[in-house]
Amino acid sequence: MSAKRILLVIGGGIAAYKSLELIRELGRRGIGTRAILTKAGTEFVTPLSVAALSGEKVYTELFSLTDETEMGHIELSRSADLLVVCPATADLMAKAVHGHANDLASTALLATDKPVLMVPAMNVRMWQHAATQRNIAQLRADGVTVMEPDVGPMACGEFGPGRLPEVSRIVAEIEAMLRPRSKRLTGRHALITAGPTREPLDPVRYISNHSSGKQGYGIAAALAAEGARVTLVSGPVSLPAPEGVDLIKVETAREMLKACEEALPVDIFVSVAAVADWRPVKAADKKLKLKGEGKTPTIELAENPDILRTISHKKKKRPALVIGFAAETHDVERHAQEKLARKGCDWIVANDVSGDVMGGLENEIALITRDGIDRWPRLPKDAVSTRLAEKIAEAFAGDEDGLSLAAE
Ligand code: C5P
Repeated sequence: MSAKRILLVIGGGIAAYKSLELIRELGRRGIGTRAILTKAGTEFVTPLSVAALSGEKVYTELFSLTDETEMGHIELSRSADLLVVCPATADLMAKAVHGHANDLASTALLATDKPVLMVPAMNVRMWQHAATQRNIAQLRADGVTVMEPDVGPMACGEFGPGRLPEVSRIVAEIEAMLRPRSKRLTGRHALITAGPTREPLDPVRYISNHSSGKQGYGIAAALAAEGARVTLVSGPVSLPAPEGVDLIKVETAREMLKACEEALPVDIFVSVAAVADWRPVKAADKKLKLKGEGKTPTIELAENPDILRTISHKKKKRPALVIGFAAETHDVERHAQEKLARKGCDWIVANDVSGDVMGGLENEIALITRDGIDRWPRLPKDAVSTRLAEKIAEAFAGDEDGLSLAAE
């Protein structure tokens, strides 16, 4: 595969200095960068430092005759595999929405036939302004990928969303966008569980957990991008259905199991849901009332079915590849190996949730199969889904009837 190249548009914002680190990190991964520096961008970084890091001439002016004879703006915007705008200021995004072409950056964006990634960074009020949000919605509708900014303290002293995402997250997004979309799972059917389950106590109360569903939805989207037909059985979460995925909404663990069994046969089952271990034996049909006598009700619990274990042990219609998740705080790999055996699945995605992983941006994953352990580098959480989908696609590659999997 030939080396990949990006065209980086550096906008005028305080975060512009981080584009230098981005160029360096991409270079380390063998991704070349050619850069356009906007006029405002030159107030924050110099063309000389960008040129030194990228090892390429830096482009700053639209109407420079030398540039046009060396490389015209059309060719410039098409010579790369991907256009990245970082930082994408409110002004640059507004220009792109309206198709302005009054400087080199906006002209390159208009003239390109390549995918475009915008990495916004701006003050929180500017980010939240209706005009910016409207522009972002329009850019996404036009097929541009717009990353969500980070939340945190800002150079201007305020706090909120608007910070440039961590460079590692930008690199992961660029790598994902540069990867060839080969659709290796076309003709395969994948079933994913995601989110929490909700176990009712009475018509208004329930037992549940904090699962957001993001990882499961991410994996469903990544498998769909690989060409699989995807059925996503989800507990209650506030996420939209990923594009091209059949979403079945459920509440309880028993409903989740039933929906999964009805979706069989499938080739791939990925059990990401945080299924409640117990449910109240009886859900009252009327709201439980406080009697005011100092008496608290006793809630008797029953164990919920283990969905992963049930699907793994199916005699008929067992999926060719069954994957479970294990979040562990210590002895991660030993516990995950035990879980692999106990649940009867083929792979376990083990997640080390000790340290700063919980609520953080990165994840430390080990993929446990019967053949051994594949330790992944620390990855942005959104890169885990893509990498897992790739592993699944590789496992099915070149095997028409089933799987060239670990077991034998
Ligand atoms: O036993 P533990 O809950 O740690 O196992 C986690 C794995 O088992 C996850 O893949 C989860 O989706 C699955 N699981 C399940 N049904 C349950 C409990 C866990 O499918 N009742």
